[in-house]
Amino acid sequence: MIERTVFDRAAIAARIDALGREISEYYRNSGDLLVLGVLKGSFIFLADLVRSIDCPLRVDFLTASSYGSGTVSSGEVVLSLDPRTKLSGRDVLLVEDIVDRGGTLEKILPLLGAMGPKSLEVCVLLHKRSVVLEREPRWVGFDAPPEFLVGYGLDHAEEYRHLPFIGSLKLPEMKLPKD
Ligand code: IMP
Ligand code: MG
Repeated sequence: MIERTVFDRAAIAARIDALGREISEYYRNSGDLLVLGVLKGSFIFLADLVRSIDCPLRVDFLTASSYGSGTVSSGEVVLSLDPRTKLSGRDVLLVEDIVDRGGTLEKILPLLGAMGPKSLEVCVLLHKRSVVLEREPRWVGFDAPPEFLVGYGLDHAEEYRHLPFIGSLKLPEMKLPKD
């Protein structure tokens, strides 16, 4: 059950416009920008973001799964990327839905870095700021509250991705076993 709307459609659209302007400026002279989305959570954000960027770019995706059906990070990240996607010599912008403890990014970035991109930057829609990261994303949509967020690409057990806004999920109370 959605407890409350955290970021509505208008707030998301306005923020993405601003991000698009900053990113366009940053990569103005690039000529070889690859926007690389982390599936599945980034698919809606990326679709809106690339439409707000007005310099030439290409789009690709990778998958990195860190969560099962629970809401606690398992610490395991499995990465898969189309082997035809070449990163070497290109400006790569990794697009992610949300950073919580940063484990996903910490595991993905060295792997991508090893593929020899000319530059590697990160744009995340939401940042929970649970910990201070060794390497912070260059672009952040919003600082997020310490709640479980769904919608606009983010899921809970694959549900809620299609919601056009970001809401917080009311989770059932944890019942501790009696002994
Ligand atoms: P991290 O590795 O702890 O930074 O967790 C990041 C990943 O966990 C994201 O890519 C999401 O897939 C997932 N995640 C973290 N917090 C949330 C949330 O509030 N809602 C949905 N997914 C989340
Ligand atoms: Mg994710």
